[in-house]
Amino acid sequence: MIIEREQDVTAAALAVMERTPDPRLREITVALIRHLHGFIRDVRLTEAEFREATAILSEMGRLTTDKHNEFVLMAGSLGISSLVCLLNNGADGNTETDQSLLGPFWRLNSPRVENGGSIVRSETPGAPLFVNGRVVDQDGRPVAGAEVDVWHASPVGRYENQDPEQADMNLRGKLTTDVDGRFSFRSVMFVGYPIPTDGVVGRLLKAQGRHPYRPAHLHALIFKRGFKTLISQVYDPADPNIESDAQFGVTRALLGKFVWHDEPHSTAPDVAAPWYSLDHTYRLEPGEAVLPRPPIE
Ligand SMILES: [Fe+2]
Repeated sequence: MIIEREQDVTAAALAVMERTPDPRLREITVALIRHLHGFIRDVRLTEAEFREATAILSEMGRLTTDKHNEFVLMAGSLGISSLVCLLNNGADGNTETDQSLLGPFWRLNSPRVENGGSIVRSETPGAPLFVNGRVVDQDGRPVAGAEVDVWHASPVGRYENQDPEQADMNLRGKLTTDVDGRFSFRSVMFVGYPIPTDGVVGRLLKAQGRHPYRPAHLHALIFKRGFKTLISQVYDPADPNIESDAQFGVTRALLGKFVWHDEPHSTAPDVAAPWYSLDHTYRLEPGEAVLPRPPIE
């Protein structure tokens, strides 16, 4: 097709996309051209901005390594990761879901912990936290024998793999639900932390006057044959950044019931007040039990 006017470029590109043999790839590429060309017209993208855009993508590629993914960080910072999650869970976006973002720090082979045990593996000053979880199916029936990986940042907002002062696998553990679908463990109360800001995403946040913080959260990955693997985060509503998560991950369903206690603990006499508790029920959806690829070793 010989192009005569700017409108012709879109028609020519769409005609080529329409010939894609695979139907899903065809659907995606046709919509992509329609939206991208529409976006460029909307903002009347200049030549200088286009050159800048390609330079930014090149830089994001250079910044991405085995240990850091600037594209995942950008997708989160634009709300894309959260949108994809919510569209594909909770009965395709129609009901509440406990699914949330995996984040960059899940590790395979967390050490096994008995219910009621501690996931604190090296001296970690902080208020004690007692977590009581329950795993149920869509009808609220308990799911026994589910494997529950939990992990969280320290009371100063660092994961063990980022912090030489913490033991390997500190604040991580793998539990199994009992016949009532329950699991429980002891840890220390954690805080929110900033996402990495030394790359393209950091410059974007700065240009937009945004802070880089994620509110305090407890990660969980729950695996049980017969159910879709649940990747969840439970957030602390008392966190100062609960309304402004840099990654748009906080949903109403995932606001946790963290309770501050100043009375003695009834079953743990070694615990000095104040301490925290968290009770949360995780709901599994039907689907395939597959593990994601661990973002780090
Ligand atoms: Fe996290």
